[in-house]
Parts: sequence; C-alpha cells; structure tokens
Amino acid sequence: MSQLSTKHLLGIKNLTEGDIHLILETAANFKEVINRPIKKVPSLRDITIANVFFENSTRTRLSFELAEKRLSADVVNFSSSNSSVKKGETLVDTVNNILAMKVDMVVMRHSSPGAPHFLSRNVKANIVNAGDGTHEHPTQALLDAYSIKEKFGDVAGKKVAIIGDILHSRVALSNIFCLKKLGAEVMVCGPITLLPKYIESLGVKVELDVKKALQWCDVANVLRIQLERQQIKYFPSLREYSLYYGINKKLLSELDKEIVIMHPGPINRGVELNSDVADSDQAIILDQVENGVAVRMAVLYLLAGAKG
Ligand code: CP
Repeated sequence: MSQLSTKHLLGIKNLTEGDIHLILETAANFKEVINRPIKKVPSLRDITIANVFFENSTRTRLSFELAEKRLSADVVNFSSSNSSVKKGETLVDTVNNILAMKVDMVVMRHSSPGAPHFLSRNVKANIVNAGDGTHEHPTQALLDAYSIKEKFGDVAGKKVAIIGDILHSRVALSNIFCLKKLGAEVMVCGPITLLPKYIESLGVKVELDVKKALQWCDVANVLRIQLERQQIKYFPSLREYSLYYGINKKLLSELDKEIVIMHPGPINRGVELNSDVADSDQAIILDQVENGVAVRMAVLYLLAGAKG
C-alpha cells in the first residue's frame, strides 16, 4: 500500500489500519530527513498550504508550518483573532476566499466539533484536522503512536493508560481510535465526572484509581485539565485533583517497574504532572514534539498524492 484511502485527514476514526501504518512508515523516512544538516526536500514544491487556526495553539501550528516548509510547500497562516471573522464572515466564506488565492490544502483548528468535516463537504481542497473542539486531534494521536513505536519497537500489545480529563479531550478520543486499530490495550483513568458515559463502548478499560492504572500500564499518557471547556465544576479544586490524580516521582517510585510518561502539551505543571516527572528521563514529551514534525510531513505528503 502506497496511498491513503482518503484525501482528507478528518479523524482517526475513518482511517484504516493500513493508512496508519503507511503514515508511520513514511514519518520514519521524514524523521531521517529532518535530522540531516539540510532538512529540506522538494516533495511539495508546487503545493500551497493555508494553516487556518480559529483556536490557540503552539505545538500543532508551529509543527505543521515547519513540516510544510521542510517539504518546500508555500505556506500562509491565518489566525481568526485578527481576521475578518471578527466582522462576521462565515467559515466557508473565509476558507473559499483563501482558496481563491490558489491554495491546495487547508490545515484547520476549530473549537467546534465537526468543523473540518463540514469544510471538507463544502470547499475544494484537502482538509487536515488540527483539532476540532472536544472531538478529534488526529495528528496528535499519530505522533503519539509513532513515539510509542519508536520507544518499544511496536504499538501492538502495549498497555497504554490515558489519564486525566477524558471528557473534554480530543487527544483521548483520537488516541483510543489509533491505539486500538494498532492492537494496543487501552485504559482510561480519571475522576468519574471526567469520564464520558459511552467510553467503555470504545473497547477501553476504565479505572478510577490512578495507582492501579500506573501499575497496569507500560505507557501513561497524561492529559491536561481543560478548564476552558468546563462550564461547571467537575471536581472540588485543582489542589484536590492534583492530590488524587497528579503524577509525581514518589508515585512512580512505588511501582514495581519503570513506565514511560507522555503528555501532548501544554502541561499544567503541578496539576496533572509534577516537574520531577515531566523533566525526567522517563518522560518522552519533547520526543513527541520532535516526532510531530515528521508525522505531519508524512500526512501532508501522502494527502497530496491521495486519489480519495
Ligand atoms: N498538543 C497540542 O495540540 O498543543 P497545542 O494546543 O499547543 O497545539
């Protein structure tokens, strides 16, 4: 298999296992490229890509822009906060105006779940979902899977615990889809109020006790408490959350094995993760960020060649 089954990357849910393996294998080639003294290849020399961000981002936005530049694409960046969206322009009008300037691909982050799916039905360009509200964050899940594969040699058979605010996390949902398709065992762990009622129907284990989750897993993917998406209180205080669910060195030292710690970022230090873990050798958080560029290069390169 040398082509993706889709011309858009809207989520992991609609990727095949073959698509995911192809992206991870292609990313391995691009990781070798970005570690050369000359990090650029001409693969997307005739392609123009717009990064259209309606929500804040550091890692995803810079990582896509670097991936595009490493592939020699032309790049334009759009941020809704200083655009004509503020004057009432619609999403489709905004994107169609960008496309009228001869743009081939749109990488979009939006706070509304389904916004990239809607766009893919209404505009003529490859659409890449860079995170849509609480729904999916496919390239984050792909770079997480790549990082697990890099660390262990394979994702199949590994036990991954996703710990924290599962209810509001697009990273959790995309990771569950991706890890299950690749044959990993997945557990979610957090306060009962932050676990969606449907979660067991996705074939994951559920654990409320963080110590038991850590003892079970090979990898803990620790998620941020997304206060900006919480309209009501799901737990008494951040201090109490940290007391019961915060990951620290002492907790890890009580396990009878060494596990790998991941976090998609941004980290709330001292809430879900203490610095003594985040900055330790057990954490592969900056490896995830490095791998994100290679994975996004692979996604853009393969979409540019996809028949769909
Ligand atoms: N992991 C992630 O999506 O980070 P940003 O919000 O900074 O892009």
